[in-house]
Amino acid sequence: MAFERVGVVGLGTMGAGIAEVFARAGLRVIGVEADAEMLARGRGLLERSTGRAVDKGKLTGAERDEILGRVTLTTSRADLRDADLVIEAIPEILDYKVSLFEDLDGICKPETVLATNTSSLSVTAIAAATGRPGRVVGLHFFNPAPVMRLVEVVSTVVTEPGVVGAVSELAGRLGKTAVTVGDRAGFVVNRLLLPYLNHAVALMEQGVAGRDDIDLAMKVGVGLPMGPFTLLDLIGLDTSYEVMEVLFDETRERRHAPSPLLRELVTAGLLGRKSGRGFYGEERAHPSGAGRSLPIAFDVAGPGSEELVARLAAAGFERSGEGADVVLRLADRPVVEHAVRLRDPATMVGVHLVGDQVAELASTALTSDAAADAAADLMKVAGLSPVSCKDRAGFVVDALLYPYLNDAVRMHDAGYASIDDIDAAMRLGCGYPAGPFQTLESLGLARVRDGLRALYAEYREPAFAPAPLLDQLVTAGASEFPRR
Ligand code: CAA
Repeated sequence: MAFERVGVVGLGTMGAGIAEVFARAGLRVIGVEADAEMLARGRGLLERSTGRAVDKGKLTGAERDEILGRVTLTTSRADLRDADLVIEAIPEILDYKVSLFEDLDGICKPETVLATNTSSLSVTAIAAATGRPGRVVGLHFFNPAPVMRLVEVVSTVVTEPGVVGAVSELAGRLGKTAVTVGDRAGFVVNRLLLPYLNHAVALMEQGVAGRDDIDLAMKVGVGLPMGPFTLLDLIGLDTSYEVMEVLFDETRERRHAPSPLLRELVTAGLLGRKSGRGFYGEERAHPSGAGRSLPIAFDVAGPGSEELVARLAAAGFERSGEGADVVLRLADRPVVEHAVRLRDPATMVGVHLVGDQVAELASTALTSDAAADAAADLMKVAGLSPVSCKDRAGFVVDALLYPYLNDAVRMHDAGYASIDDIDAAMRLGCGYPAGPFQTLESLGLARVRDGLRALYAEYREPAFAPAPLLDQLVTAGASEFPRR
């Protein structure tokens, strides 16, 4: 199976990126759009992306011309008749895709492999619309396609032997790593990523923390390449909404229902980067301004206090003990039970350090604004970025991270994908510094299991209950997952 001529149908953000990837790898590309206006938009995306590479010195002008010279743009699907492979990247609406594949089946030669870049729809249903279901696969790229190194190759129960191997080999030629998966909603990455993003929106809607605080916590605290709201804007809120709909349809889990705020923004046409505004608009400012209410009389309590006391002392701030305006209580659980034992409960703020740069600051129902502001100022002088949140189990980071890790364990335990494939998919598809199993093992299985128990006890969300495999490994005293 030699792939030399590749068709790409739909030249939006993903399609244009995919066309660029193939052209960069030396293949001839036929890019198809519905009309002249969309085609011009696609051409613009290709030109801008390769132009940026020239500006950065990654490509010479001549190389860029060669790449663009390998791409033929057309509004006629009939031009795909000689393609060896056609990938569709049109909107995530099953009817549109089915009708396109029926068409492609009639146009393309019988041996052409037809691929869908669907994020979540059933590849099997799309394959069944053709007379060649054995030669239809999912080929799922990640945004931005020229950068992210993963391709999920999705096979169905009727995929011909050899097709998956050939397409995976092609992914290698493109400089990508292929992970082969079965046809389940969300495949590996979206199944793990999108519920986490949706959960971030839910935490914001519940007022647990704001957009900028959540983004900062996950990017700077956890070390992810982007915070969830920045990433939602990159993926597109419409795509994110559609993926959640499909997940919900399959699982009927309430947490998979797309957040109402997502729906509202999509209906308002605020789709993220592609429309110029989503969770973020023009502005990108993070709150700043240390030292508003200093000096402050403060005290520090709870496990690990000494280190924070030392950090503050090094910045010239000594604890005052009695009569403090703010009591910083180090904890990884809600602190209100400690607050009510204080003479003045309004002074208590929970502090949870995430990595070595971020401090989550939990305000209880009794915390005064003055104490919350003072705590934020103290963190800044201690060299930590404050993340303000409510005094809820998991605060922000653990509430978002642990259910994602739990989902990965369940996915593996269900036999859908191996530990190594899941880890590779999240690292290469989303640029995570480590895969979920690597993260679980470095945090400690027991710590995550206990954190999940606390989340479950507070939110009563069934999916937050520790996965049986995780629970059993902790009970058995294991510190690693057995690689089968
Ligand atoms: N097209 C081409 N190249 C791009 C690009 C784009 N749209 N955006 C960024 N880049 C390149 C830059 O040119 C730069 O290249 P060099 O290192 O060669 O100079 C590199 O990527 C890094 O870019 P920046 O320095 O501008 O920005 P950054 O360091 O913040 O990285 C990022 C940007 C690569 C997008 C990074 O933030 C990241 O990895 N984010 C996570 C993205 C992610 O999770 N994607 C998956 C989403 S899920 C999905 O797509 C599936 C689905 O079905 C919904």
